[in-house]
Amino acid sequence: MTHNEDSAPQTTRLWGGRFSAKSDPIMDEFNKSIHYDRRLFKVDIVGSQAYARALKCKGILSEEEEATIINGLDQVRAEWENGTFKIMPADEDIHSANERRLSEIIGPTGGKLHTGRSRNDQVATDTRLWLREQCEKLEADMRKMIDLFVQRAEDDSDIIFPGYTHLQRAQPIRWSHWLLNYAWRFKADAERLTQLKERFNLLPLGSGALAGNPFELDRLAMAKELGFAGVIQNSLVGVSDRDFIIEFLFWASMTMLHVSQISEDLILWSTAEFGFVQLHECYTTGSSLMPQKKNPDSLELLRGKSGRVFGKLAGFMMTVKGLPSSYNKDMQEDKEPLFDAADTLDSCISLMGSIIHTLTVIFYFFFY
Ligand code: ARG
Repeated sequence: MTHNEDSAPQTTRLWGGRFSAKSDPIMDEFNKSIHYDRRLFKVDIVGSQAYARALKCKGILSEEEEATIINGLDQVRAEWENGTFKIMPADEDIHSANERRLSEIIGPTGGKLHTGRSRNDQVATDTRLWLREQCEKLEADMRKMIDLFVQRAEDDSDIIFPGYTHLQRAQPIRWSHWLLNYAWRFKADAERLTQLKERFNLLPLGSGALAGNPFELDRLAMAKELGFAGVIQNSLVGVSDRDFIIEFLFWASMTMLHVSQISEDLILWSTAEFGFVQLHECYTTGSSLMPQKKNPDSLELLRGKSGRVFGKLAGFMMTVKGLPSSYNKDMQEDKEPLFDAADTLDSCISLMGSIIHTLTVIFYFFFY
């Protein structure tokens, strides 16, 4: 590989001070996470503003500098929000992009924001803040879906249904009994989500690159400002713990396992052979060649996406299982599976609720 004239000069990089050679553009692209971690722009700015306040409290920033940085960061956020933020070739990730832009807007004072801070404690803070918001959204999604199950169970409590074991007709049960069996599972999933959110809601900022922060910043004040329940006590844990991501991916997998199991039941029951339920048309597709068909694509996709989520869990565990302690760049591989799992769960949970809400039960059971 050769060095290319188009590659970004080292001096424009956050860490370029001691480097003289131009980098390889293939390496530049390979090293970047900006095309996906830009999703963290808002939490990155909120975290930086809390850090600026902590620097001011220790007299590292004057009151004026603090105000300039905080207002400058507000402007950077506005640019992301109104779509005018321009990503530059040397912007490796969201942290370097935001700091680069801040310094362009407010001048050299912008550089002071990084005093005693590393992208290692910054990214760990941003990811926790982002995931906390996602968990809150998913908790609301779960509540809505469970409500739709319970509502349906209440409305249909008179419907008697075949109960199966070994997929052999066994004893009559109520259709609502089957529905609530999944509502209970989802309730346990929702509780697990709340519990894991509480476990990871601790502040890593102040851990520095790995060995802590030399300025004795008030970490409790930063934690309070950012809504964390406390601080991570060990700085190595602060920069390198990704267990919370694994725990979230496990939660996502467990929830999708339940989604997949219901989907399988309903796929079977919507066949001509069973003929128990009919999906609402907007969750099915047809065939031009075989007009009698009403394919349960929504349920098949829900079942299929469970495999995708399990894969993210297994994949990320493989990524971290052999890492030496503290931060390693492998950890940048945490974001894509995390974002993908959060998005997948958000759409699957909403869809599952709507399918249950709109389907028709067409089977009225007479036992034998
Ligand atoms: N983009 C990086 C990540 O997501 C940020 C941390 C970079 N730290 C470093 N020492 N190069 O992990």
